Amino acid sequence: MAREQWGTKLGFMLAAMGSAVGLGNIWRFSFVAGNNGGGAFLLLYLGCVFLIGIPLLLTEVSIGRKAKSDVVGSYQKLAPKTPWFFTGFFGIFSAFLILSFYAVVAGWSLYYFFNYVTGNFFEAPAEAGFGAVFGGFISQGWQPLFWTALFMAMVIFIVVSGVKKGIETANKIFMPLLALLLIVLAVFSLSLDGAMEGLAFLFQPDWSAFSQPSIYVQALGQAFFSLSLGMGALLTYGSYLSDDKKLPGAAVGIGLMDTFFAVISGLVIFPAVFAFSIDPSSGPPLVFITLPTIFEQMPLGGIVGLIFFFALSLAALSSAISILEVPTAYFMRLFSWSRKKSSIIVGSIMFFFGIFVSLGFGIWSDVTPIGEKNILDSMDYIASNILLPLGGLSMALFVGWYFKKATALKAVDLKDDLMGSTWYGIVKFIVPVVILIIFVSSL
Ligand code: PHE
Ligand code: NA
Repeated sequence: MAREQWGTKLGFMLAAMGSAVGLGNIWRFSFVAGNNGGGAFLLLYLGCVFLIGIPLLLTEVSIGRKAKSDVVGSYQKLAPKTPWFFTGFFGIFSAFLILSFYAVVAGWSLYYFFNYVTGNFFEAPAEAGFGAVFGGFISQGWQPLFWTALFMAMVIFIVVSGVKKGIETANKIFMPLLALLLIVLAVFSLSLDGAMEGLAFLFQPDWSAFSQPSIYVQALGQAFFSLSLGMGALLTYGSYLSDDKKLPGAAVGIGLMDTFFAVISGLVIFPAVFAFSIDPSSGPPLVFITLPTIFEQMPLGGIVGLIFFFALSLAALSSAISILEVPTAYFMRLFSWSRKKSSIIVGSIMFFFGIFVSLGFGIWSDVTPIGEKNILDSMDYIASNILLPLGGLSMALFVGWYFKKATALKAVDLKDDLMGSTWYGIVKFIVPVVILIIFVSSL
């Protein structure tokens, strides 16, 4: 059977942007920034995106396009009889870890959407506000699991129906809508009493924060997570791209778009966090407490909340399908499974792990696999801060050192001019050195 392909370059762009823009920009960006002091984190995060993220994004897509295979098979094809393919397993492994908790958080988003449909969340149903509402919801056993299962079923359904059909069209409508909503929300949030404190938190770096090594790892991990980098999601999407499509413009476009969504979410969340005296370091629940509190104060907030959580759930869906696609494509080739069989098996295993993640907010909240981190935070830490950067490091070393310069430049559609050499120098030297320094300093 011939390998599947995108219909058009736009189809690829939409899918790749759909992969990038998701819970990472709103949910993860906000709580990681909130935990790491705001401004100093933002600065480092932007540094990681532009210096490392975008050049690597181009690199990752080009590997897939050149090899036309999955994250393990691409290395086997381009570097036969070498151990390079081994690094592809980081990607497969991180896909399992990430989607297992991503589906839980996306389930929360679906639950919120549902509560805006019924009108239940138009006003905080509890005296103590949305903090108590959220805490009560996630600590129950079955309810959050139901929403996780529903989300996972939707992801599998879309991946089964193939790469081309997917949800390209839905993305075309709802990504711009999500952007528009975020802009409106940012304006509203900035008009709240006390908003300026939030702005200062986000944009005025506390210079002493730079002396903490953990902030560098967090910024790097957030850049990788948000750009969908290092797992092989973009590599796999690139493998469905024909050779005549030009890559550098696409890579920059995807990177800028993703960063726009992150910064604008910061402008929604932090002014409101300070205006409503919410703790910026509340961790994963942060946006699920802050957002409904904003909607409650806002004219027509119930409707805005409804559309918002619908769009957020869709954004999560288009990211999740790119994660499921990584192991699905691998197992399809490895065991000659059908797309249907592969995605159902992989997706079910992920849901199974998701049960642990979800219960980690309830009966298993005392389970802390790493330090004081609960199950979600532990899985997230290993995947986003360690495995994704390692996957990216190996892609940089592969293209920078295993390929000859001319081969590398040709793979990414650049010429041997200033721009091409800059990209090559970054990928060959800067990316590996920076990632290694950050790793070593955090030990
Ligand atoms: N980039 C996605 C987001 O921001 C998450 C993701 C991570 C997708 C890794 C693919 C690979 O939500
Ligand atoms: Na993102």
